[in-house]
Amino acid sequence: ENESTVSITVVGASGDLAKKKIFPALFALYYEGCLPEHFTIYGYARSKMTDAELRNMVSKTLTCRIDKRENCGEKMDEFLKRCFYHSGQYDSGENFAQLDKKLKEHEGGRVSNRLFYLSIPPNIFIDAVKCASTAASSGIGWTRVIVEKPFGRDSESSAALTKALKQYLNEDQIFRIDHYLGKELVENLSVLRFSNLIFEPLWSRQFIRSVQLIFSEDFGTEGRGGYFDHYGIIRDIMQNHLLQILALFAMETPVSLDAEDIRNEKVNLCELSTEVKVLRSMRPLRLEDVVIGQYKSHTKGGVTYPAYTDDNTVPKDSLTPTFAAAALFIDNARWDGVPFLMKAGKALHNKRAEIRVQFRHVPGNLYNRKFGTDLDQATNELVIRVQPDEAIYLKINNKVPGLGMRLDRSNLNLHYADRYSKEIPDAYERLLLDAIEGERRLFIRSDELDAAWSLFTPVLAELEEKKIIPEYYPYGSRGPVGAHYLAARYNVRWGDLGVEQSAA
Ligand code: BG6
Repeated sequence: ENESTVSITVVGASGDLAKKKIFPALFALYYEGCLPEHFTIYGYARSKMTDAELRNMVSKTLTCRIDKRENCGEKMDEFLKRCFYHSGQYDSGENFAQLDKKLKEHEGGRVSNRLFYLSIPPNIFIDAVKCASTAASSGIGWTRVIVEKPFGRDSESSAALTKALKQYLNEDQIFRIDHYLGKELVENLSVLRFSNLIFEPLWSRQFIRSVQLIFSEDFGTEGRGGYFDHYGIIRDIMQNHLLQILALFAMETPVSLDAEDIRNEKVNLCELSTEVKVLRSMRPLRLEDVVIGQYKSHTKGGVTYPAYTDDNTVPKDSLTPTFAAAALFIDNARWDGVPFLMKAGKALHNKRAEIRVQFRHVPGNLYNRKFGTDLDQATNELVIRVQPDEAIYLKINNKVPGLGMRLDRSNLNLHYADRYSKEIPDAYERLLLDAIEGERRLFIRSDELDAAWSLFTPVLAELEEKKIIPEYYPYGSRGPVGAHYLAARYNVRWGDLGVEQSAA
């Protein structure tokens, strides 16, 4: 093992993702001693840059987990010495062959394993994969390629992309990233369900009234309008991040923790909902179960926040949703009739990703009868706050201490910052490490991707064909009112809109 080496090439090295996430994650892995002894990192992009310039660029975004930790600067220098740059076109076999030559020099005859991280726009994906695989594959070790979404924009284009990728790579070389799967609390979902007695028995239509998957950001698409306008929030967040969480949340117990067993459970779930749709006419994601919105300009405290269409790269008449809410249903014995409500939006009032599990009413609640209190509204709710300020808390009804009998709502609260002093690793660290180790559990298989697209493709097509006009909401607001009507239709309320007792 000591004699093998890993070469990691970040294709699209000057892009935002590379700077903000990939290089910092690689450094964190190095800092933690998780990278193999022999490794080399190459940045690959079109612009001309020297190794020193790349190092300078990269150094600006590296951080040590905990400030002022010992050796931080020293470690950074060591790390940067292992980073190099190669300038080339993404569709040039020749340029990739030059890279291959340089990689070989660093590898010094050891068994070489090569990881390519494609952090480039989708229209040049295939060219880059072709060049990397034909001109820069490892001869004697593994070659793996990490790809980032968008994986197409509907079932058809996604299938075409998969087909094209498979001309040059085997499925086991392709690592499709959904970085939400690398988030600590998403990984913890299975632990919560399958290693505690008290959750799994409640995990069904019998006790759960609705499940809500909520994503919000308090900034718009500034700077990314060009990409975003072609995709919209449903493709950007729901079809991947939120659906993946839903699948993990709702899947049956896997046979084991093996990658294939888990992914089989997730896919079966998805396949069931599409197949049953055809076979028994179950409710697919219908247009009436989707609400879309787009943010408009808003002035607050003397500051004017832009409208989505104020972005120069976005057409003035764009109908692309920057917000969407949807109700999805899983037509199996466990979840029949339980609404899975999704909500995702940009330029909202806060930044948050969470899962909310609303439980049913206590049947014949004694306290309700005796005090006629408002306990009807006060059902238990389990909140898994994925970010920021990670927490898992359960809302319960509790007696207010004292001689009288008064109830209130309290939280049983697992607040990560209080409980665990360790800083939580970034999702990209876990995923990069898994890719290096060949652990596929958190990556998306192609059949899983197909199943995900087939749930959203019809409604996406309908939205576009019918040119459905989004509901406009002010930048920084709580989003369109339509989302409330959607939830109300299924007799539920969004859990994030009540007055929340501080979870912290
Ligand atoms: C990306 C989306 O996949 O996830 C972005 O393309 C979004 O639009 C981002 O901002 C959110 O990721 P995180 O980890 O910051 O919540």
